[in-house]
Amino acid sequence: MSFQLPTKEDKHDYVHEQFERIARGYDLSNDVISLAMHRAWKLRAVSQLLAGKKGGKFLDVCCGTGDVSLVIAKQAAAGTAITGLDFSQNMLDLAGERQRRLAVRKDKIKTVKIDWICGDAQNLPFADDTFDGAIISFGLRNLTDLQKGLNEMARVVKSGGRIVNLDLGHTTVPLFAPIFDTYFSKVVPVIGGLLQNDKTAYTYLPESGRNYPRPERITAMFAEAGLVNIRHTPLALGTVALHLGVKR
Ligand SMILES: C[S@@+](CC[C@H](N)C(=O)[O-])C[C@H]1O[C@@H](n2cnc3c(N)ncnc32)[C@H](O)[C@@H]1O
Repeated sequence: MSFQLPTKEDKHDYVHEQFERIARGYDLSNDVISLAMHRAWKLRAVSQLLAGKKGGKFLDVCCGTGDVSLVIAKQAAAGTAITGLDFSQNMLDLAGERQRRLAVRKDKIKTVKIDWICGDAQNLPFADDTFDGAIISFGLRNLTDLQKGLNEMARVVKSGGRIVNLDLGHTTVPLFAPIFDTYFSKVVPVIGGLLQNDKTAYTYLPESGRNYPRPERITAMFAEAGLVNIRHTPLALGTVALHLGVKR
């Protein structure tokens, strides 16, 4: 039987249950599936976030196991405060473990405060104009209402603050498109099956990418959220899309 994405009504619980289930093997699978390239993409995304202001308060929405928050912690000015928010407690527990392990080895990270908060990206538990910048990495695609997620990020960021979204793109390189499509739809579920014994979660991944809006549409959604100076940077031959916007 062919794979079916969850309905709008089921998506929140479906995605939540899936990340609770795959949390433990998530980091290894990410490295294998992206050939570790996700690390460079995240560095690039964080450098766009911090190009506006190197210190202050930053929000990492859908933080997962804390990859992006920990990159911010390494790159930001001392005294920076980071909030990582996710609705999967299992992912957040791993983020906390990783932070503790890193703090032992890296002095810099000790001068940065990180709070891990369990909450919904579509209803952020923060007051308006709280953060100097906000970022979401491979999270937007998983929300039931993408526009609401972006509107919420815009709401909690101060005027002049940056909002960054890193997620899957749609390659337009003619020869590469079918190769990437075969890799993503046929090979990735096999890798997920082998590493995590969870072929379903890694079948959802390419399907959610296929259904994710094209970069031009994400740009329009940034504008709809009231952001200006919007920039789209294609990465990895367009298979990954990096968007930046600034709150008016
Ligand atoms: C693909 S992972 C990305 C994790 C991390 N940002 C990264 O780049 O490695 C997506 C994350 O989004 C979280 N998530 C999905 N929908 C969410 C929602 N509505 N509210 C909060 N977190 C959500 C999941 O629990 C998961 O940890």
